[in-house]
Amino acid sequence: MKIAFLGKGGSGKSTLATACVRHLHTSGRRVLAIDADHNMDLILNLGADSLPHYLGDDPAAIKRHANVPEDVSSYTKAAEIARANDVVFRLSPPDAYTAHFAHEVAPRLHLMAAGPHTDIVRSGEHCSHSLAAPLKVHLPLLQLAEDEAVVIDERAGTDPVATGILKGVHIAIIVAEPTVHSARVARQIAEELSRAGVRHEFVANKVRNELPILPRSPLAVVRFGAEPEASEAIEKILEAL
Ligand SMILES: Nc1ncnc2c1ncn2[C@@H]1O[C@H](COP(=O)(O)OP(=O)(O)OP(=O)(O)O)[C@@H](O)[C@H]1O
Ligand SMILES: [Mg+2]
Repeated sequence: MKIAFLGKGGSGKSTLATACVRHLHTSGRRVLAIDADHNMDLILNLGADSLPHYLGDDPAAIKRHANVPEDVSSYTKAAEIARANDVVFRLSPPDAYTAHFAHEVAPRLHLMAAGPHTDIVRSGEHCSHSLAAPLKVHLPLLQLAEDEAVVIDERAGTDPVATGILKGVHIAIIVAEPTVHSARVARQIAEELSRAGVRHEFVANKVRNELPILPRSPLAVVRFGAEPEASEAIEKILEAL
């Protein structure tokens, strides 16, 4: 299963993604936690200050690995070529690319991150989305065993859908606070996901009295100040899948 967490900035994506990683890991799964946000809250929550290698350090590495011609600049096109080349990624035993970028920080817990801004981003040559672009190739071609799962903590807003890296996920969880702005962004994300054909569900977070106004009932509700409820919410989400 590949599950991604999306939502407006500060809605609780990293909090819920962390709870999801912990839940899956303690229930015996091998988990790949992917931090697609250059702020890297997920890996910090999971106990890592930094990682030896980030996807964004060498975005073209995945094209070399998959024998994609150098002049192919689109990662969407690269994913098609990699598939045609029968490229497959695996967590265990890992292929060379996954072994390099997915760090096993505890038994059966692997961390991968887009990473912080690089000079290419600072110079304006590429935007920060380029750091996570290799995921467009890696995620759809990553073959999981029954007892393996991938959890992705995304960047805020609709950009992760628009930039296409979510094509490889089975379900996206949209986290929404009960504010006008958070609910509005959650609905925008849902529209984009529908357009992209990605299954999605909602979680209401930081709820005091009112629920956020969403197109349908959330799978779970986490009350304000009750962050431990995040793990109960994850149980509900996984049961409902
Ligand atoms: N249910 C909750 N009650 C109170 N505070 C919460 C709750 N859930 C998350 N928070 C807090 O809200 C803040 C933002 O949470 P988090 O970092 O998970 O959001 P995010 O959506 O990942 O943010 P960003 O857009 O910056 O990545 C954190 O300080 C977190 O501890
Ligand atoms: Mg976050």
